[in-house]
Amino acid sequence: MNISFNEQNRVFKLDTEHTSYCIGIVDEENFVGHIYYGRKLTEDNLVYLMRTEEAPFVPSQYNRERTSFLDSFLMEYTGNGLGDYRESTLEVRTMGGHTGVSLSYVSHRIYDGKEELPGLPATFGKDTECKTLELTCEDPVLHLQIILSYSIFADNDAIARSVKIVNGGQEPIYLTKVLSACIDMDNDDYEMISLHGSWARERAIQTRPVMKGKQSVSSVRGESSHQDHPFIAWKKKETTEENGDIYAMNFIYSGNFLAQIEEDQFDNIRVVMGIHPNNFCWKLEVGESFQAPEVICLYSADGIGGMTRNFHDLYRRHLIRGEYKDKKRPILINNWEATYFDFNTEKLLSIARQASELGIEMLVMDDGWFGCRNDDNSSLGDWQVNEDKLKGGLKYLVDEVNKLGMKFGIWLEPEMVSPDSDLYRAHPDWAIAIPGRVGSLARNQYVLDLTRKEVRDYVYEMIAAVLRSANIEYVKWDMNRQLSDIGSYGLPADRQGELFHRQVLAVYELQDRMTKEFPHLLLENCSGGGARFDGGMLYYSPQIWCSDDADAVERLSIQAGTALIYPLSTMGAHVSDCPNHTVGRITPFKTRGYVALAGTFGYELDVTKIPEEDRNMIPEQVAMYHKYNDLVREGDYYRIANYADNHYYDCYEVVAKDKGEALVTYVQVLGRPKMQSMRVRIPGLEPEGTYVIENAQDWPEIKQTQYKGATLHYAGINIPPLTGDFQGRLMHLIRK
Ligand code: GLA
Repeated sequence: MNISFNEQNRVFKLDTEHTSYCIGIVDEENFVGHIYYGRKLTEDNLVYLMRTEEAPFVPSQYNRERTSFLDSFLMEYTGNGLGDYRESTLEVRTMGGHTGVSLSYVSHRIYDGKEELPGLPATFGKDTECKTLELTCEDPVLHLQIILSYSIFADNDAIARSVKIVNGGQEPIYLTKVLSACIDMDNDDYEMISLHGSWARERAIQTRPVMKGKQSVSSVRGESSHQDHPFIAWKKKETTEENGDIYAMNFIYSGNFLAQIEEDQFDNIRVVMGIHPNNFCWKLEVGESFQAPEVICLYSADGIGGMTRNFHDLYRRHLIRGEYKDKKRPILINNWEATYFDFNTEKLLSIARQASELGIEMLVMDDGWFGCRNDDNSSLGDWQVNEDKLKGGLKYLVDEVNKLGMKFGIWLEPEMVSPDSDLYRAHPDWAIAIPGRVGSLARNQYVLDLTRKEVRDYVYEMIAAVLRSANIEYVKWDMNRQLSDIGSYGLPADRQGELFHRQVLAVYELQDRMTKEFPHLLLENCSGGGARFDGGMLYYSPQIWCSDDADAVERLSIQAGTALIYPLSTMGAHVSDCPNHTVGRITPFKTRGYVALAGTFGYELDVTKIPEEDRNMIPEQVAMYHKYNDLVREGDYYRIANYADNHYYDCYEVVAKDKGEALVTYVQVLGRPKMQSMRVRIPGLEPEGTYVIENAQDWPEIKQTQYKGATLHYAGINIPPLTGDFQGRLMHLIRK
């Protein structure tokens, strides 16, 4: 890891273990140009690559003119309105109503370590683990400072970028767009990868050619969303899982975002990412600063899988925090699909009694324990226990569960309020709303205006009182609607455009407060399933509920899409009830266990009611979790086959960092007549190492049980056809 500045040619070079990133300062105007991003280079004399002297148009005799230069030069970060007509990354409105802004390099700082981003989630590392380049730029007219930060890591190829804007002028200024990163580069016939979905089918992987014009993914819903994801990758056509160039950006943020690739008239591309400019307008007083959230940029020459494993390592080491960061999580049972709102102390205890006998370690009480909430029409905001349901109160229930040797967890949705609640009746102006308009309800609820400190404090005290009242060791923090009717009774007219971002900052502040006051708590974020599964939330909670669809087959593609970026240790995954409550599918209990094993693992069913043969399988699944979880949590993940692509079977693998063992999960989704065995190639092992199938008894059809790593990778293994649909098996390989 190294950051250098060549004063002679004015080139900055950031080197990670396998990549280089080069920035050049050019002209008297000190434009900050992008030179190179890709495989590691040893020299920094790359000024020749910057097209500073190209003619504006043929047959012009002149060497250059300002507009055509600004509209084609590869920039590191861009202003607006002065001649660069591609997507801008910074836009302003002055008190005089003008929108032009530009930036020129002024100075820089290179230092060991990485500073925190105040109030925002961000990657971190010790002084020995990372280095940072800070480029201070300025608009010479507005005296606006634009500080571009780039941090690199000793043990990862990622570059963490962010931007800070400081108003050094004489009057306030409105920031109407502040994106966090921009990468301009020559096009190479790229394809773009993005993630899309809906409720219960989050993060499906989509690949499309990069074409002229703009192709973007975004959210203006107030959260990262089920629909699109704050991630974008671009790769060469020939790049595969294992080989070839791929670039990516992922946003460490949980609100509105824009991620976009634009191909311009010269076939160059501009990739940008940041807070979506829709409805964004931030008033910056004289001397104040605005910090934009962090974007992680990655380049890998090792294909899509190389990108994935870099993200996993980065997030496990430099983003996720807290007591459970590197720890096995308790196997939980959640009562949502078991009872929905219809439960009481006795019912929960009967589930807990049975569960504890089977080896399950924690009971989670989901929605419906507070106010008078017997359906989703009321009581959000009234976080007092419903003693009609929980006779003897919360502490009694928790103590009884603890006596069974189990931990206890609880569901909360602190950001919301039901119109039918004491809180809303007392403070109708605490909900996000536009005066004079009837607010749009979603799931019968409004969003609390957390930009107001009194609302934040009130909500925090209410939920902290619950957590202080009993031995609660886990919280599922839910958020079941997206934002609309953007208006705050607490913000002045010229700051209403700050609401979306301030709301996200408020959620971060609340979770920060909670995890500081209750450092032993295991926090799992959730948003109508997986609508806020993003790097921002991972900074506060080491795991996030992946999707409300826990059907084993649906989960194959949801989890594959999620694991494109996020480590398996973060994916909330449970064995759920059958027929599945979302799609009605019936899958074997065994297969449901294998698929949930790729995540945090737990149960989402009434263990007292499921068929006895399923129940009898639970101790075996519990043992399987304890046997494999260290490997699944910490190992390198390889996609082998994606059911969403081949419509037939799914296969993935986790290899231990020392390559001493690997776990392959194979799910044959549909049975076929007249089937041959399936050739599956198993990558990631030590080529000359000898591996044996440790659980050979589960593979009676396979006679040979010992192979070289290279043989498994390049020649593969024949997986026999399994009888029936939705059949799964695990293969545990151990190096001799
Ligand atoms: C959301 C969650 C579910 C459950 C319900 C409760 O939909 O994703 O797991 O907690 O809320 O209302």
